Amino acid sequence: MVEFALPKNSKLIQGIDFPAAEDAERLKRIEVYRWDPDTDENPRIDSYHIDLDHCGPMVLDAILKIKNEIDSGLTFRRSCREGVCGSCAMNVNGKNTLVCTKAIDDYKGTIKIFPLPHLEVVKDLVADMTHFYAQYASVKPWIETQTPAPADHERLQSKEERKKLDGLYECVLCACCSTSCPSYWWNSERYLGPASLLQAYRWLVDSRDEKTGERLDELEDPFKLYRCHTIMNCTDTCPKGLNPAKAISEIKKMLVSRHL
Ligand code: SF4
Ligand code: SF4
Ligand code: FES
Repeated sequence: MVEFALPKNSKLIQGIDFPAAEDAERLKRIEVYRWDPDTDENPRIDSYHIDLDHCGPMVLDAILKIKNEIDSGLTFRRSCREGVCGSCAMNVNGKNTLVCTKAIDDYKGTIKIFPLPHLEVVKDLVADMTHFYAQYASVKPWIETQTPAPADHERLQSKEERKKLDGLYECVLCACCSTSCPSYWWNSERYLGPASLLQAYRWLVDSRDEKTGERLDELEDPFKLYRCHTIMNCTDTCPKGLNPAKAISEIKKMLVSRHL
């Protein structure tokens, strides 16, 4: 039978409200989603009060301060702290972003931090990326050639050919776009989603790749590609300023043009 309400053990409950340090003057309230698979407890929202005079400027700094000084059990991913590894993607005040590139001052009032939406949660702010990475691998994100490589130099590109990769190669695979896409929420088993499709396009327009036809054959599918309805959440949310929706429409154009 179809279930229209959340199962009881999925309902969010109010968690712990950690008090602020007594001498803190410039306080910021931060609410964080917590869930531990090793207990039977419901997910909860814990609240922390961060002294901004003793915290770095970014949202990730606040999360690190919570872990280091208040609540060592808080679990999340991060690595580079400069927007290049893509691992610190979370949902902050309703929008997916890389928390190492978002300033605390960009948010008025309470900051509410959740894991990326519509993915299974591993623990706290860690979402399960297994399916997302499998979809990425399915577009064969590597060069595919049929001709032998030149004996005395690499496979070269002109400046114009290389320029076609701008706006694509910068993708850090954070999944902010795919997990903000309503079509991906409802069809993620079969729809590749904006991140993997942007990556697919990156290889379609690489002048050195020699499997363009096969790549297009793979994408010509009502679900893999055509579940995109140009809602544009992906482009709106991309923390690297990329435009996955445009990449998807370019793939569609390539598919149409080969039938003309
Ligand atoms: S433009 Fe396409 S991929 Fe982007 S959010 Fe909308 S449906 Fe999803
Ligand atoms: S296109 Fe942007 S939002 Fe999507 S995975 Fe790449 S960097 Fe992240
Ligand atoms: S920690 Fe690497 S992108 Fe944020």
